[in-house]
Amino acid sequence: MPDDASVLSPALRDSHFLRACRGEPSTRTPVWLMRQAGRYMKEYREVRAGRSFLELCKDAALAAEVTDYAQRRIDADAAIIFADILLILEALGLPLDYVAGDGPQFARRIAGAADVAALRSPAAAAADCTYVADAVRLCRARLPHDIPLIGFSGGPFTLAAYAIEGGASRACQATKALMWGEPAVFGRLCGILVEALIPYLRAQVAAGAQVLQIFESWAGHAATADYRLHVLPHLTTLVAALPRGVPVILFGAHSAHLLPLWREAGATVIGCDHQTDLAAAWQSLGGPGRIAIQGNLDPALLLAPRETLLSAADACVAAAGGRPGHIFNLGHGVAKETDVEQVVALIAHVHRRSARPMLG
Ligand code: CP3
Repeated sequence: MPDDASVLSPALRDSHFLRACRGEPSTRTPVWLMRQAGRYMKEYREVRAGRSFLELCKDAALAAEVTDYAQRRIDADAAIIFADILLILEALGLPLDYVAGDGPQFARRIAGAADVAALRSPAAAAADCTYVADAVRLCRARLPHDIPLIGFSGGPFTLAAYAIEGGASRACQATKALMWGEPAVFGRLCGILVEALIPYLRAQVAAGAQVLQIFESWAGHAATADYRLHVLPHLTTLVAALPRGVPVILFGAHSAHLLPLWREAGATVIGCDHQTDLAAAWQSLGGPGRIAIQGNLDPALLLAPRETLLSAADACVAAAGGRPGHIFNLGHGVAKETDVEQVVALIAHVHRRSARPMLG
């Protein structure tokens, strides 16, 4: 089990992306994009035709191919394994369906103590998801030697919210009602999630992922005090149980108020949404040298005229000031309406604009 960064090959260790995760200088700003493998890509739509999204996730060879293809097509500085944050919920006993146009939906949802008690064991759930680790292993063998592979999971609030709401939700009202009304039940649910996520993420690292990202996508719905009281202890337990030396990126949408808590939880890199001022957020977290930052171009800019896109990218690069520890990304995932040529142009542009001599 690679429990320590020293097992990295020199090409991976010195990659732009891992240097940035560690806050070390590099000769350009690394770029990858959330949802870089997805429906905006013609080749993805072709692979997806004739099989369901879940079938694709569970076919390790195809998931590895989709991941590898996307990295090469857009020249990203990292790959992220093709999977979904909701797979672990299915394995915990909540049957899942992706309904075209309506997003993910669960046939059963968590409404109280009895539903939490009826969940499958976390260890069994993680063991059921070994197809994700299998995809990581196959993908690691295909990727260029200097391109790190990111493993991922959802965060405790986001997964609890999906389980409680039964699908996407505007305001997470049922989630908050359970969190406030039955805090011990909510806590048990988060505890079970974390118990499943620890082996799930550790297996991804053992299979060849160099970095982990925790998508706490919906956490922004929670007020700071509620998140601190009801969620942060679980998140902290999760991060502390991950292999030492493996950078952990924490990301959420509309989450500026939670960034300091994620730093407290032990994140190595803080993901910044596009509503947030990246320079100010980085500074308030301690600034370059203290923590790395990822973000934060508005994904809708990929639908804007090319000059608008590229000048906004310049502004994002300028906000980080070329300082070590910036990973260029979007503030959320690539929209399915995006033209892949816009993505290719964006990444090439950021590579050019951020090129600098190695200092320090
Ligand atoms: O980033 C990547 O390229 C890796 C793959 C990835 C997917 N989902 C593939 C996917 C990752 C990292 C995710 C994470 C994920 N999944 C999140 C967190 C990120 C975020 O957006 O905040 C969330 C909330 C989910 C849950 C989920 N899965 C949603 C809301 C949807 C979209 C449903 C829809 O119809 O719009 C999915 C499905 C999904 N996950 C797709 C992909 C490529 C589309 C599935 C398809 O082919 O139809």
